[in-house]
Parts: sequence; structure tokens; C-alpha cells
Amino acid sequence: MRSRASCAMAVLAAMVALGWSCGAVAADDRAALFDPVASVVMGPRCLNCHQVDAPRQKDMGVLHAQKVVRGKDGHGSAALRCQACHQAENTADGRVPGVRDWHLAPLSMNWQGLDKKGICRQLRDPTRNGNRKTPREVVEHMETDPLVLWAWNPGAGRSKPALSHDEFVRALKVWAEAGLPCPD
Ligand code: HEC
Ligand code: HEC
Repeated sequence: MRSRASCAMAVLAAMVALGWSCGAVAADDRAALFDPVASVVMGPRCLNCHQVDAPRQKDMGVLHAQKVVRGKDGHGSAALRCQACHQAENTADGRVPGVRDWHLAPLSMNWQGLDKKGICRQLRDPTRNGNRKTPREVVEHMETDPLVLWAWNPGAGRSKPALSHDEFVRALKVWAEAGLPCPD
């Protein structure tokens, strides 16, 4: 027969165990809120522009043809500017992608070589995300910016992001409301 005290201890131990596991699940659940966001952000349409030295092409992310480079301002070298080819909309039956002011993301916003956690932290870091401070500011660009929206109208049979833009915005809002949690 167990004594009352040992019984109480057992219940306490069980509660602690339950409490611990609930806490762990909650943290995992919070970090998982970034998963649907990552499924879009880590796609080739986005990664191809968030690079260090040069843009990339195709779903494989091969270096851009014609030896195109970043240049001083993300718009290419003085001799070969992005706008020599990229117009304000997709051209040549969609083969040449385009929206107004097509250029590489600033160096601080580089995602090359970063994993899910690294990109998540970059996105919420005002020193690297263009001084976007609040969760609202962090997600707004992805709701409205033409460079982002282009990924859903990429032209010429290019693959699109894993979620529709509406689904992406919903996932962004959930992530923002939870305070932009990132995987550990
Ligand atoms: C044609 C190149 C290009 C493409 C394609 C592109 N971006 Fe960007 N991105 C930029 C540039 C340039 C900026 C800087 C603009 C600014 O700060 O106003 C930027 C800034 C951002 C920012 C804000 C700063 C940061 O890094 O936190 C986010 C978020 C972002 N892009 C997400 C995306 C997502 C998501 C996609 C794909 C669905 C995408 N971008 C596709 C060029 C691109
Ligand atoms: C000489 C013309 C030319 C110049 C200059 C040029 N591009 Fe391109 N770019 C193209 C063409 C054509 C494609 C389509 C390649 C394909 O998908 O087969 C392309 C594709 C891309 C893609 C791939 C889009 C995707 O995800 O499929 C990105 C990103 C890109 N260019 C960025 C840039 C940036 C940034 C600059 C300036 C720094 C630039 N390009 C300069 C012609 C050019």
C-alpha cells in the first residue's frame, strides 16, 4: 500500500512531467509558426535575388548568365545594368522577368548560405532588415511589395511559391501576432 505522501509525490511528479512536456510542445509549436513562411521565403523565386555577389536563375539557383554582378547599388555593373534587360513587367513572352526597379536585395538582406533559423533571425533584425522594427513592419513588405508579388506571376512556366499569396499573408500574420518566433 502506498502512503498518502508518496501518492501526492507521484501526482506532483506527474504534473511536473506534464508541465514540462506542455512547455516543450508550446515552444516547438511557436517555432513551427515560421515553417509555412519559410516554405515561401526559401523558394528559388525569392532566394535568387537575396544573394551576395550576383543574382541566380532557375529553380537550381545557377549563377546568372552574362556574368551579371551586383555592382555598387545592386543594379549591376556600370556596363551591364539590370534594366538593360529587366523591364517594368515580364517581357519576351515572360522569358525575361520584370517589375519596376528590378535589382538585387541589399547585402544586409542576404539569405545566401543561411538556413531556416538564419533567415528567420535576419527577417526580424532591424539592423539587417531595413530598420523594420515591429512585427507589423516586418511582414508588410511581403504583403505588398511588387518584387515579392512577382513570385506569383513569374512568367515563362517558372515554378511558383508553395503557398498562394493569400495563404502566405495569413501565415505571416499568425507568425507576427505570435511575436516572430524563430526555430532554436
Ligand atoms: C528582383 C529581386 C527580388 C526578388 C525576386 C525578391 N526580392 Fe525581396 N528584396 C529585394 C530588394 C531590392 C529588397 C530591398 C527593398 C526594400 O528594403 O525596400 C528586398 C527586401 C525584402 C524584404 C525586406 C527586408 C528583409 O530582408 O527582411 C523581405 C522580407 C523580402 N525582400 C522578401 C522577399 C520574398 C518573400 C520574396 C519572394 C516571394 C522576395 N523577397 C523576392 C529584391 C527581391
Ligand atoms: C543581358 C540581360 C540581363 C541583364 C543585364 C540582367 N538580367 Fe537577370 N535575367 C535575364 C534573363 C534573360 C533571365 C531569364 C533567365 C531564365 O530564366 O532562363 C533573367 C533572370 C533573372 C533572375 C531569375 C529569376 C528567377 O527566379 O527565375 C534574376 C533573379 C535576375 N535575372 C536578376 C537580375 C539582376 C538583379 C540583374 C542586375 C544586377 C540582372 N538580372 C541583369 C537577363 C538579364
